[in-house]
Amino acid sequence: MKRLLLIGIGAGDPEHLTVQAIQAMNEVDVFFLIDKGEDKADLNRLRTEICDRYITDRSYRVVEAKDPERDRHPASYRTTVEAWHDQRARTYEEMIEDHVGDGECGAFLVWGDPSIYDSTLRIVQQILERGACRFDYEVIPGISAIQALAARHRVPLNRIGEPILITTGRRVSETPPADIDNVVVMLDGENAFTRLTPDDLDIYWGAYLGTADEILVAGPLGEVSAVIERTRREARARKGWIMDTYLLRRRTEP
Ligand SMILES: C[S@@+](CC[C@H](N)C(=O)[O-])C[C@H]1O[C@@H](n2cnc3c(N)ncnc32)[C@H](O)[C@@H]1O
Repeated sequence: MKRLLLIGIGAGDPEHLTVQAIQAMNEVDVFFLIDKGEDKADLNRLRTEICDRYITDRSYRVVEAKDPERDRHPASYRTTVEAWHDQRARTYEEMIEDHVGDGECGAFLVWGDPSIYDSTLRIVQQILERGACRFDYEVIPGISAIQALAARHRVPLNRIGEPILITTGRRVSETPPADIDNVVVMLDGENAFTRLTPDDLDIYWGAYLGTADEILVAGPLGEVSAVIERTRREARARKGWIMDTYLLRRRTEP
């Protein structure tokens, strides 16, 4: 039987890797890398660096495939994403079928934690449901950008007994203001925080968390919103891409 590992590698700091992740990497015969274009090349460079650093006394293969193109302005978001996942599933299936021998172990090095806004696990399950390819699979958790953000700002994600909502930039604008107690926002390409009523909200923002380029800004949303917008624009222009996450928290009466 083939084995497949989905290994969470943390959010950018090679030292985010857990002991479990390092041990798992040392069992792998073939690593799969997905080429997501030049602006994401830094992320694959980190994956390569992690392999060089943590895999000891073992030879392994690396197989790279191109990510299928995605329509960024679809008429129907859901249908387009589903079609794109389907194409991705075929690419992944071919890689597993053609490059992992019986008794061998393949792995995807998943950014952050595989359970948070990542499609690898869903795609792997989709491949198994199709039934053309058989393998066992395991998930190794990783440090998510969410934990990295909270740690770097030295802030708990919730106050006592309060819920935490994790959402996207696209969805946070639709969240009723009364539901924003503690909201973690990921995948925000549009500065959604600028469209919220800032009066009683604080923001804890972090970009390139865990890397040498890390930027942190925190404060009342009304005061720092423009600073974050400018910092974000400049950082993106400088580096060519940006990954940022933020926590929005309703301020309570002292
Ligand atoms: C496709 S999701 C992957 C999330 C990942 N699975 C995790 O657990 O962190 C990508 C989003 O995660 C966030 N992110 C990932 N790494 C980050 C980092 N180093 N600094 C800030 N945000 C990050 C950003 O919001 C980015 O748009």
